[in-house]
Amino acid sequence: MSVKKLIAGNWKMNGSLAANEALLRALASGMPVQSVCAVAVCVPAPYLAQFQAMAVTLPALDGIDLGAQDVSAKASGAYTGEVSASMLKDFGCRYAIVGHSERRQYHFETDTLVAEKTQQALAAGITPIVCVGETLAEREAGQTESVVKRQLAAVIHANGHCISEIVVAYEPVWAIGTGKTATPEEAQAVHAVLRAQLKAATDHADRVKILYGGSMNAANAASLLAQADIDGGLIGGASLKAADFLTIIAAAVV
Ligand code: PGA
Repeated sequence: MSVKKLIAGNWKMNGSLAANEALLRALASGMPVQSVCAVAVCVPAPYLAQFQAMAVTLPALDGIDLGAQDVSAKASGAYTGEVSASMLKDFGCRYAIVGHSERRQYHFETDTLVAEKTQQALAAGITPIVCVGETLAEREAGQTESVVKRQLAAVIHANGHCISEIVVAYEPVWAIGTGKTATPEEAQAVHAVLRAQLKAATDHADRVKILYGGSMNAANAASLLAQADIDGGLIGGASLKAADFLTIIAAAVV
């Protein structure tokens, strides 16, 4: 793939004002001078403003885009606790993760809801990072392909011609936070399926970044990122350690 790779950190529900400041300062000082890959951090919503404020005084943060970990499926109104896409936009968010498996699992998010969240993000000019992935039981039952295709199909169906504007993240649920990574070949096989599905939906499928996520770390990033259809990574645990995240960024600069 010729697209610039994207390395996105997913901090999940981790951090504090002090810890975030230390992490962002360490990242800023270690960023490659000439960045050849795109980099983002998806922070908890309360810390979006902290990133925005730090970026003003720390020009080196320029090379890192801001992302959210979720977005409401509604535009505004009586939806207590929700954060809308336009609010994220106010805080300079370039990306929003949608349909992360932890949201699907613990918050019962359906394919339809994920498709609506994707629509909201796109309408606000935010790039949704749409997560798909099978559980261990689904993989063992030989359902990997049908599960990820079903999840992506809902998003394609609802977003039509805008679909080339999304980022997809293939995150096998059994690999998230477990230290078990899909082998580069296993991941590539699923990425190729997703690429083919995108090709059937848009002439610009080669422009869509398909990230791998699930225990990507400093040691295994290079071999995963070398695969033809792996255009970057969505990194949880290893994105909380500056040295590890910077090593992954360096592995994406090819
Ligand atoms: P992990 O998380 O890198 O800690 O496995 C990835 C993710 O859930 O996005």
